[in-house]
Amino acid sequence: MTNPRLEELRARLRRIEAMGGAERVERQHQARKWTARERIAYLCDPGTFEEIGAHVHHRGQGLGLGGVEAPADGVVTGYGRIDGRVVYVYAQDFTVLGGSLGEMHAAKIQRVQDLALASGAPIIGLNDSGGARIQEGVDSLNGYGEIFKRNTWASGVIPQITVIMGPSAGGAVYSPALTDLIVMVRGSAQMFITGPQVIEAVTGEKVSAEALGGADAQLKRSGVAHLVAGDDQSALSLVRHLLSYLPNNHLEEPPVVESDDPMNRIEPGLREVVPIDPAKPYDVLRVIEAVVDRGSWLEIQPGFAENVVVGFARLGGRPVGVLANQPRVLAGTLDIDGSDKLARFVRLCDAFNLPLVTLVDTPGYLPGTAQEYGGIIRHGAKVLYAYAEAVVPKLTVILRKAYGGAYLAMCSRSLGADLVFAWPTAEIAVMGPEGAANIIFRDEIARASDPAQKRAEKAQEYRERFAHPYVAAARGYVDAVIDPAETRPRLIAGLMALYNKHEVRPPKKHGNIPL
Ligand code: HXC
Repeated sequence: MTNPRLEELRARLRRIEAMGGAERVERQHQARKWTARERIAYLCDPGTFEEIGAHVHHRGQGLGLGGVEAPADGVVTGYGRIDGRVVYVYAQDFTVLGGSLGEMHAAKIQRVQDLALASGAPIIGLNDSGGARIQEGVDSLNGYGEIFKRNTWASGVIPQITVIMGPSAGGAVYSPALTDLIVMVRGSAQMFITGPQVIEAVTGEKVSAEALGGADAQLKRSGVAHLVAGDDQSALSLVRHLLSYLPNNHLEEPPVVESDDPMNRIEPGLREVVPIDPAKPYDVLRVIEAVVDRGSWLEIQPGFAENVVVGFARLGGRPVGVLANQPRVLAGTLDIDGSDKLARFVRLCDAFNLPLVTLVDTPGYLPGTAQEYGGIIRHGAKVLYAYAEAVVPKLTVILRKAYGGAYLAMCSRSLGADLVFAWPTAEIAVMGPEGAANIIFRDEIARASDPAQKRAEKAQEYRERFAHPYVAAARGYVDAVIDPAETRPRLIAGLMALYNKHEVRPPKKHGNIPL
């Protein structure tokens, strides 16, 4: 005998799982997009996702919503596991009212935000939405506000990752922007505050939605996105991969994995990376990849502010954040975007207990009116603030140039580096030899019969006296001058020595980082 109540439940669930109906699901697939349920099924370990709030439905108020069916109110919410660890998930369903966010849709997202925060588990949002549900007006706006508030409260407590898998327009972009990491799907994801039509109407400027807010624009030009994937599947794989570097919450350590890369691996090739000519560039990625556990490097924000490089890696199986100047781009100078990129990554790592490994080769700050008028002073200050504020183990390796304020900014001893190593090629001083010679020997150079030759002589004199690591090492600002080939074992030994590091700052409401 069938139980009519059970039959009713099954019928209701069938309607909910049909989402916006076969035709809209087909349209979603035609657009190379998976449905919300397909995305969650791939993201979570097989069979682990438990949906909550499936029966939630809008209240039918507002213009034109009466009697409109909206299965799950256009968002699938619940919890599952990734590599066995609990995660909370919400996935907007574009097949239902365009994934638009109304009062109850927002309440469902808020519910998983609350549960994730209370239980100290990461939250992952899969966004694919037409934005504020127009029919629900101010209730929809209020829903966004409640989500933003929870994003902010959870910041630094649990990892929050957003994947943009469709449109994300208007104020709706601010929930992703408040999370730790944004992954965008090339071709389907677009983020912008005002779309192409509004821009054309207001300013006359013509731009396509893709050029304005597509994945590559938001990765390389604005720095809003952290990673880009070619399709839904690889975006979701990236999220799983990202989580492998992050703890469940700020009170836990990041997950340690078995590494078959020997901890004492010597890398003789590193002795040849830095060119003899100090003006010649090289690719710092070669250094990073040679030092970290093989295959563990995951660059974040590749293509944005390429004069600095940041990313996750492992050393001896333990996750670390790596930050470096990139001499190949703008000679490795620090600029506005590079400073923002460094500071934000330092704070992400510090919040989630990842030690910081900083590789230094910078001649200083990028000069020019564009930088000064753009506020390099306040942007550059973020880097100082972030490093000085961080309490995780901080290890610095000076590869070559470390001049002036940029030397300080790149996690110097005085900003709180626990261990500072220098390669024999390191040059640590107030400024480069040519600039220094021009200032301190100005009169002598002016009086010389051949000023250019005199300048070169004086620069060489300065180089011999100051452009090496031994003055800084003599003062204890550098702990050891190391053979570049031994960088990996020295860093791993340093990390182990600092494993139980515990540093506290004076209690306060919060600091006032220059923004
Ligand atoms: C209600 C919406 C909707 C919305 C889409 N739909 N957006 N319903 N509110 N915001 C519905 C459509 O009516 C349609 O319903 C279905 O979703 C699919 O939409 P299409 O237009 O057919 O899809 P497509 O051609 O792919 O275009 C997608 C789109 C477009 C680019 C997102 O729908 C669009 O421009 N929507 C409006 C976007 C917008 O301006 N949102 C407000 C942003 S401001 P049917 O029944 O036909 O399938 C905002 C403020 C947030 O969000 C403030 C926070 C502080």
